[in-house]
Amino acid sequence: MAYKMQGVSPVRTDASVQRLYDRIAGESLGNWLDERVFRLTENSPYRQRAIDQLQLKPGAVVLDLACGAGQNFKLLRAAGAGELVGVDISRRSLQDAAARIRRHGWTNARLLNTPIADFHPEPRFDAALCSFAMCIIPNYEQAVDRLIGALRPGGRWAILCMQPSGKHPLLDSAWAWMNRCYSGGDVRRDVAAYVRAVYGDCHYETCFGGFYYILSGQKIS
Ligand SMILES: C[S@@+](CC[C@H](N)C(=O)[O-])C[C@H]1O[C@@H](n2cnc3c(N)ncnc32)[C@H](O)[C@@H]1O
Repeated sequence: MAYKMQGVSPVRTDASVQRLYDRIAGESLGNWLDERVFRLTENSPYRQRAIDQLQLKPGAVVLDLACGAGQNFKLLRAAGAGELVGVDISRRSLQDAAARIRRHGWTNARLLNTPIADFHPEPRFDAALCSFAMCIIPNYEQAVDRLIGALRPGGRWAILCMQPSGKHPLLDSAWAWMNRCYSGGDVRRDVAAYVRAVYGDCHYETCFGGFYYILSGQKIS
């Protein structure tokens, strides 16, 4: 098996991630960069591509794992999501998500302030999404297990996150450094290798010049 367990990131713990996101949630430089440079805000074409992979049917029950400020919610709703459950460790980020829900007047959206380690959902979701978090969540293997474990058989999942482009060594080093400094994120994690080793083959595509990837698949049983 090519995959080698990397375990909990030495860089961050759940407690330090929580402190970090309670501090930087809503931070204006981050918002500016997310909108103008990284195209991560709620109309992001990359979010749309990941959500397309979920193939939502109207009224679908959807999990957004590590949902942060709820930047996926608008596109998920537009794609057909009915009941929406967002999970995140950062209370401050969830306050922003709650404000977004109120602003749009959405009903049937629920936010759970809990670390993924303490989230044990019934396998009832039609679709599950995790965006821009697998490089940050300390125990990402557990996060993958929770994401796919939350699905009913036949449910679909998608992961959108950062990676080295593999094309420009200098840019890749700068990208890894920037993510590590800003969020403690490790863009070199091979999430695809873990998914393939444990759950079998999945769809893989890249976007944003190869610096983002989208993994997706279907839970068989
Ligand atoms: C970069 S933000 C991405 C938020 C959102 N998914 C998005 O696409 O905008 C990463 C999020 O992961 C959350 N997170 C990291 N580790 C977590 C954990 N162990 N349990 C729950 N949430 C976690 C952070 O609180 C933060 O909101």
